[in-house]
Amino acid sequence: MANTRSRVWSVAGLLAAAALSSGVLTAGAATAAPPIVGGEPAKIAEHPWVVYLTDTQGNQFCGGTVAKANKVITAAHCVSGDKPEAVQVVAGRESKQSNDGTVAKVTNIWVHPQYQDANSGSDVAVLTLGQDLPQQPLAIASKDDAPLYEAGKQASVLGWGATAEGGEASENLQKAEVPLTSDADCQKAYPQYKADAMVCAGLPQGGVDSCQGDSGGPLVVENKLVGIVSTGNGCARPNAPGIYTRVAAYHDDVQQQLDS
Ligand code: ARG
Repeated sequence: MANTRSRVWSVAGLLAAAALSSGVLTAGAATAAPPIVGGEPAKIAEHPWVVYLTDTQGNQFCGGTVAKANKVITAAHCVSGDKPEAVQVVAGRESKQSNDGTVAKVTNIWVHPQYQDANSGSDVAVLTLGQDLPQQPLAIASKDDAPLYEAGKQASVLGWGATAEGGEASENLQKAEVPLTSDADCQKAYPQYKADAMVCAGLPQGGVDSCQGDSGGPLVVENKLVGIVSTGNGCARPNAPGIYTRVAAYHDDVQQQLDS
């Protein structure tokens, strides 16, 4: 799905360029834009398990979560069709401009066998790294964690993605707080919503969300990975919450990969 990814980015680029040339964006918009969308800068030391993925040139394109010393969970749509050599994991680096932390090679990419596209679910992948990371892993939600998925639960989403719809990716790690949406509300917003494969998060009025480039990154409730940034309609729009992979629904498949 590397093609889809670049296509998404080039369309986003064209839109941004068109918006700029037509003067739709005000001069201050890019610099004043709130991080992730509607979040704030976050410390890598407080979230050591959040990582980003780069291509061989070092360009960040997705996020991920360390779930074991040598395993990273991300979205299938981030890496589907990619060769392991084409992807690198950057751990322990808060700012893309620093040289902090570790750049790890990927030796294997497992994409959920049922994955087709983000709109049909199973948007989960596990990367095996060529080395063990020192970062503390994050626990993943299981079938017993149904309470973590209750509508209204406050969740944190982290990433280095765009800070506004159609905007540029962030240099620094960002974090935002978003309440989980009920299945009924998410179903209303998205006909393709599948409650057994996805979970939504966002405010009815919008304003806070993950965005392009945050995909694959963590949605966290009570120190457990409950979701993976997957898709959505634009970013931070009213009545259009972000759609996340429901991690608990894939716990057994993922755990098998973590153990392998
Ligand atoms: N698909 C996007 C990516 O590849 C993530 C979109 C998340 N959208 C949202 N509204 N939460 O980075």
